[in-house]
Amino acid sequence: MRIEPLVATEGNHNLSDYEKTYANFNWENVNEAFSWHETGKVNMAYEAIDRHAESSKANRTALYFEDADRKESYTFQDMKSLTNKAANVFKEQSSIQKGDRLFIFMPRSPELYFALLGAIKMGAVAGTLFEAFMEVAIYDRLLDSEAKVLVTTKALLERVPVEKLPHLEKIFIIGEDVVESETTIDFNKEFANARDQFDIEWVDLEDGLVLHYTSGSTGKPKGILHVHNAMIQQYQTGKWVLDLKDDDIYWCTADPGWVTGTAYGIFAPWLHGISMLVVGGRFSPQNWYGALQNYKVSVWYSAPTAFRMLMGAGNHVLEDYDLSSLRHVLSVGEPLNPEVVKWGNEVLHQRIHDTWWMTETGAQMICNYPSMMIKPGSMGKPVPGVTATIVDDQGIEVPPFTMGNLAIKKGWPSMMRQIWNNKAKYDSCFMNEEWYVSGDSAYMDDDGYFWFQGRIDDVIMTAGERVGPFEVESKILEHPAVLEAGVIGKPDPIRGEIIKAFISLKEGIEPSEELEAAIKLFVKTGLAAHAAPREIEFKEKLPKTRSGKIMRRVLKAWELDLPTGDLSTIGDD
Ligand code: WTA
Repeated sequence: MRIEPLVATEGNHNLSDYEKTYANFNWENVNEAFSWHETGKVNMAYEAIDRHAESSKANRTALYFEDADRKESYTFQDMKSLTNKAANVFKEQSSIQKGDRLFIFMPRSPELYFALLGAIKMGAVAGTLFEAFMEVAIYDRLLDSEAKVLVTTKALLERVPVEKLPHLEKIFIIGEDVVESETTIDFNKEFANARDQFDIEWVDLEDGLVLHYTSGSTGKPKGILHVHNAMIQQYQTGKWVLDLKDDDIYWCTADPGWVTGTAYGIFAPWLHGISMLVVGGRFSPQNWYGALQNYKVSVWYSAPTAFRMLMGAGNHVLEDYDLSSLRHVLSVGEPLNPEVVKWGNEVLHQRIHDTWWMTETGAQMICNYPSMMIKPGSMGKPVPGVTATIVDDQGIEVPPFTMGNLAIKKGWPSMMRQIWNNKAKYDSCFMNEEWYVSGDSAYMDDDGYFWFQGRIDDVIMTAGERVGPFEVESKILEHPAVLEAGVIGKPDPIRGEIIKAFISLKEGIEPSEELEAAIKLFVKTGLAAHAAPREIEFKEKLPKTRSGKIMRRVLKAWELDLPTGDLSTIGDD
């Protein structure tokens, strides 16, 4: 099928400057940005923190942190000492060794960053859990990863089914009035007494760095493992795509519970020794505009949902703020609609640069960035050193303007190295041993620009967060009134998609508004707030294949008033 471009292109189509600049680019060249190509000693935490603490940047602010209760800042020198202290606490108070998993489950706070980099300094694989996760979500992830250490708060610990997690050896609680036990340790107390010197555990570029769980369309969440080598691409895209310059103040709004919040909310900016802002607490237009103004943010990385919420608040809100320090704005996670780009141009006076990548890719892949010509509405072009294409279902490349599977040639530096405990799943992500198949559908134009079309699988992107329908359905099914459930993403003007559940009830149970509210709350408190359905529709029966699988495709067609296609495989039992 040939697709006509939706948005007119702009510019002069002369790509030669861009192509000339990068024609000879090779990832090997990036090694020279780091001393390990001579010393052979590698650790992400050294490159992101200690290296700068030992340079003229020692007294530069690394981290500005602000939430409703705290307003603090830390230099690279401070960060070196504080991450050393955290590493000492973990090393002395647990048996955690290189390669073991340490998970962090807490809201954004400076301690989260000390703990995460401290864990990396001692060679552990750092896992993160978004603070909205509830019991099953936490249980599945900590069990699958066989996490040995957990760092959390007193309030969040209530959601951790400690007794069902045989590998969990020690829990460090951050906060006040911690009651210690054999397994539970008061982090702040130990941290206050810990030494601020630490011998970094030097690792191999291929050793594990971070583990992020993410959703597919079937089965439990998958643990995506990245290794220290990811720094090559995170560093280089920090330069090309984030366009980081020495005196920038950078703000990435993503939470470290998700990959953007580590790759671009920790590693890329700090690999460049840039001052970074972290804002805790809830979103409000006033807080966000206030943060941009007060910290004189120059480079801002956020998501379409956030931009749409700011748009929704009205342009008059912006009149009270001076955002003149902004010079580069970027977006990730969902399609960036042309209306948002227009708002960026007219109201923010900034072109919003779309970037495409995913948990599995570990770093930005297809992007709009300052040194290239931009076509609004397109995700941009693959960064130099990345080869992307569109393949059909057999893995054969298709011509320009043909919709198909967005695929990336295997072997980019920040590529995931494992799906935890699931080699078969990992292997199934690659086609013909050559292409990583993303699950997104897109087409390429004849200048090599990529245009996003949608997900091929049933993964839901809601407010920039990736939710697997299976995990939500499984939770709904635990509700005593529910017989069957099918979950889809329903298009939504603000959130991109919202989660909608179609539910059939057990015999004798009648649909009601109370039941609907109860099921929503059941998912919210049992799985995660962002994974709870915002809409529920009760049905007598759900469409299923003969083998009993609920057909989400048909649910989606019902929702969108589209033809349901061939229903001949639907069972009538
Ligand atoms: C979607 C977030 C359209 C896409 C870094 C991808 C996008 C999934 C874009 C990955 C974009 C990401 N335009 N869609 N610029 N960027 N996506 O793993 O469907 O949370 O497969 O990684 O988000 O989500 P994930």
